[in-house]
Amino acid sequence: MSEKNLQVLLARRPTGAPQESDFRLVETAVPEIGDGQFLVRSHYLSLDPYMRGRMNDAKSYAKPAQLGEVMVGGAVGEVVASRHPKFKPGDKVVGAFGWQLYAASDGAGVSRIADPRVPLSAYLGVVGMPGVTAHIGLLDFGQPKAGETVVVSAASGAVGSVVGQIAKIRGCRAVGIAGGPDKCRYVVEELGLDACVDYKAGRLWEDLSEATPKGIDVYFDNVGGEILDTVLRRLNPFARIPLCGLISQYNAAEPYAMKNAGALLVNRVKLQGFIVSDHLPRWPAALADLAQWLSEGKIKYRETVAEGLRSAPSAFIGMLAGKNFGKQLVKLL
Ligand SMILES: NC(=O)c1ccc[n+]([C@@H]2O[C@H](COP(=O)([O-])OP(=O)(O)OC[C@H]3O[C@@H](n4cnc5c(N)ncnc54)[C@H](OP(=O)(O)O)[C@@H]3O)[C@@H](O)[C@H]2O)c1
Repeated sequence: MSEKNLQVLLARRPTGAPQESDFRLVETAVPEIGDGQFLVRSHYLSLDPYMRGRMNDAKSYAKPAQLGEVMVGGAVGEVVASRHPKFKPGDKVVGAFGWQLYAASDGAGVSRIADPRVPLSAYLGVVGMPGVTAHIGLLDFGQPKAGETVVVSAASGAVGSVVGQIAKIRGCRAVGIAGGPDKCRYVVEELGLDACVDYKAGRLWEDLSEATPKGIDVYFDNVGGEILDTVLRRLNPFARIPLCGLISQYNAAEPYAMKNAGALLVNRVKLQGFIVSDHLPRWPAALADLAQWLSEGKIKYRETVAEGLRSAPSAFIGMLAGKNFGKQLVKLL
């Protein structure tokens, strides 16, 4: 094959916000495939906040990325050569192919995708890992009931936008929290949530109180820090908190010191951290719901698409700072 592979490697472990120099772009040969393997040409790479955690050499739920290795990441693409009995050239696939144009795979963790109702890129967002995270987190851990108030942070993002819309499908009052008037307008006018609080406007407590006149029954937390601490003061008795992410803390030098943890006890709140990859048996049903809702127009989504693998580091750095609007992708073909 005359084309070369391009890869983004982890060059240095960041302190605080990652820099472009923490990554290295290299040109290599397209991998040769052995028996039982196939070659994928990726079309879209997914950029996700969890990748920031993998850049640290710290104990977590997953192994850290190694220095000099290809950055981990999900991608969708097409099989272009195969010596595998179950995958053939032309198959569209989604898997952990990493920050690179070509990947050799033995099929572990790879799914073939064939639903003509779903655009390829959506398998990395609304009908992919972020959508499943929203579905499992809200419905299994949040257990919302019709008429209850559900609040979700990072509400215009890949996970949060799906959480808010599922809350509406389930007959709840859904309130988003997002950064800036444009994102908040989108959350209400396009996604159909009942209200959205712009946490950057400097009136978080006042605006949240106004948007949640009956208090909060479910808080789907994507951000942690001051927003979580403020939400705690609005919780109703027996509220549930699916703790999905803590993005406000990923680049922070010091962890935020919570002030209102007493509200958890007083209100007998159930707070549970969860990791979507622990719940693989739940994925098929969640994906089926999401594809169905998408085809019926009951859920909408938005993408921010960076062009070319070379732009992946800056797009990733931007996403951690909130520059993305919806699911952050990199177009590779
Ligand atoms: N538990 C799991 O299995 C699992 C799976 C997937 C994702 N997650 C977590 O879910 C969260 C959302 O992920 P995503 O993929 O949907 O990303 P996303 O929401 O599409 O993008 C990240 C967003 O986070 C917000 N943000 C950044 N810094 C912030 C800060 N200091 N305070 C408040 N908000 C901030 C920004 O939105 P604003 O402009 O609105 O601030 C930014 O656009 C992340 O915490 C991620 O780690 C967890």
